Amino acid sequence: MKEQELQQLFDSMSLKEKAGQLFQLAGGMLADDTAMMGPMQDMGIEKEDIQLAGTVLGSMGAEKIREIQDAYMENHPHHIPLIFMLDIINGYKTIYPIPLAQGAAFSPKLTEACAAMAAREGAAAGLHVTFSPMVDLVRDPRWGRVMESTGEDVYLNGCMAEAMVKGYQGADLKGAETLAACVKHFAGYGGAEAGRDYNTVEVSERSFRDFYLPAYQKAIDAGSALVMTSFNTINGIPATVNRWLMRSVLREEMKFDGVLISDFGAIGETVCHGVAENRSDAARKGIEAGCDIDMMSGTYPENLEQLIEDGRLDIKLVEESAWRVLQLKNRLGLFENPYKGADQGKEREVCLCREHQELARKMAQESFVLLKNEEELLPLKKERKTAFIGPYVENKYMLGGWSFTGDPQDARTIREACGELKGYDITFHKGCPVLSSDVKLEGFGNYTQETVPAKQQEEMLSQAIEAAKAADEVVLFLGEHFLQSGEATSHGEIMIPRVQQELLDRIYEVNPEIAVVLFNGRPLDLRLVQKKAKAILEVWMPGTMGGAAIVDTLTGKAVPGGKVPMSFPYSVGQIPVHYDELPTGRTHLPGKDKDRFVSKYLDIPNKPSYPFGYGLSYTRFEISPVQLSGKTLHAGEHIEAEVVVKNIGDRAGTETVQLYLHDVSASVSRPVKQLKGFQKIVLEPQQETVVRFSITESMLTFLREDDTVGSEPGSFEVYIGSDSETKNKAVFELI
Ligand code: NOJ
Repeated sequence: MKEQELQQLFDSMSLKEKAGQLFQLAGGMLADDTAMMGPMQDMGIEKEDIQLAGTVLGSMGAEKIREIQDAYMENHPHHIPLIFMLDIINGYKTIYPIPLAQGAAFSPKLTEACAAMAAREGAAAGLHVTFSPMVDLVRDPRWGRVMESTGEDVYLNGCMAEAMVKGYQGADLKGAETLAACVKHFAGYGGAEAGRDYNTVEVSERSFRDFYLPAYQKAIDAGSALVMTSFNTINGIPATVNRWLMRSVLREEMKFDGVLISDFGAIGETVCHGVAENRSDAARKGIEAGCDIDMMSGTYPENLEQLIEDGRLDIKLVEESAWRVLQLKNRLGLFENPYKGADQGKEREVCLCREHQELARKMAQESFVLLKNEEELLPLKKERKTAFIGPYVENKYMLGGWSFTGDPQDARTIREACGELKGYDITFHKGCPVLSSDVKLEGFGNYTQETVPAKQQEEMLSQAIEAAKAADEVVLFLGEHFLQSGEATSHGEIMIPRVQQELLDRIYEVNPEIAVVLFNGRPLDLRLVQKKAKAILEVWMPGTMGGAAIVDTLTGKAVPGGKVPMSFPYSVGQIPVHYDELPTGRTHLPGKDKDRFVSKYLDIPNKPSYPFGYGLSYTRFEISPVQLSGKTLHAGEHIEAEVVVKNIGDRAGTETVQLYLHDVSASVSRPVKQLKGFQKIVLEPQQETVVRFSITESMLTFLREDDTVGSEPGSFEVYIGSDSETKNKAVFELI
């Protein structure tokens, strides 16, 4: 629709109709569902509000969405189409690894391809918007939502944010295979105090700007059509009604001109935060802060008109928001084609098609991180007898806590994937359930927790022990339950479930040749696992093709090359632990444990068990000392930093070569290291290659003491290595 026509349509709408555009319905409310009417009336929502709503959350499927769209448009006074939105986090039907795992793959290209695949499937199923990417910076693995982030690093998060937005949105939002992206949660949600979901965020404005904001900015620069607010407070004010955050920072500074949607119920919750007197006040504050769409608190339909009538709210603010929603509908091409990509035939054709399954398998392979591999226990050797033991051996629930659109039954288990293998001697045993029945689980949908009677559990265990005795080696498939990470799954302890630890201990007694394959949505405290496992392969929540990708990797058909995107703490006591910390005045030098009055713990190390960027391969790489093309850098010029990387093992493998910089002395203390580039290379045995990074002045900027962004002259350290603890260093001066 031409802008002028859109304006005419807008001018013909009543205030109630305009306010309706700002109200988001949940799918269930659309049907004439009497069960829903009670709760809706409690929220102040009337039937008429439903007919005027602008967007819908939670409906899916081409047939259903076409029906809803038809019925709704017929009843709407101006026949304005709805926008259908949903959380498509790591795939629609073909589920690929969770975002944290994608961070581990360090491959923005693959991530972009996966996002495009999710968009192709989701758009065919009638959806228009996905609530992704989540680019919240995470430093606390107690917070269950770390699984939705790509990790602790500001640069990596930015690369992934950009890749996801490009993948979802493609070249044209009107396209039948694209979805509009919604970057979330603005802002700082990952900083929830003590890792407790929805908790207050206390962060200095300097850290907020330097570490938290850049990834959102990357997503906005990549064109993300929407932004979602976060549940937390920033500077004591809930983000959703934080005028400074939304109007000054997001719109003016960060130049976001799309639609801002609240998180679920967040506007109404400002009453509980104690910053709005009542729901009407909450609605006023929400719209004044520039929050266009009220997701599910119902405060907008209930109050906006009255607030304007009472002279307590400027009508222009409601109009401004409604106009933005109509513009989004226009960008999506809904006035010409209200169904956009919704097509039952195409939905059947693309969902879970072979091409998508292969991409999901590739993404899974690339996301696996080999944490440990003593005596080269992995890959498995054909001539040995191996026992596959553990609750993940025959478990299809490995899609991740947010993948409710996917069907676990579409996943192939480890055992099923082994069906393709030839020449291996493997037996399969469950050993124990994922969790003992006393462990508390909450999640979306109707998942029923498995309960195994004590006697049966004993039998399982003794069969597994017998199998371990008879085998040359054991592979244990252990980890978190898929519902233990995700929204509202904060944990005070982050170890593998107790029942599985017991299994590991008992197996170890009879056969210490153990490789552990670990499923989880967050970094875990692995001290007890490390003691007993000779090898550990981290596979996260690997998705529909996870089983196949794991078997590929265990047998050496694929070689692990992923890197840890978020430090694995030694224990909960270290949290938050992240590599890009600021130096202290009293740095602890490893090995000098007797030094008093330095920044350290007496009972645990400072270093995490596995730092950011760490990951082994089945082969080994040698990286030469860093060479710089010059010793000085002037603004507008660049320095080349290079290393030679050689595969010194006897099989091909992938290395992610990482560039870190450190500003030695500045007006503000700067992180000990910051990732500024990475390159993923594949080398054949004994092959070597030059890896070169170009360093420019723009890579050295930060928020200076005077609150301006820029660089400062002086010495900079350049590190190039295979993880964030590399000591491979050179120095240059910025003039
Ligand atoms: C609440 C979550 O915080 C958000 O990430 C999600 O997009 C919405 N619910 C909608 O499901």
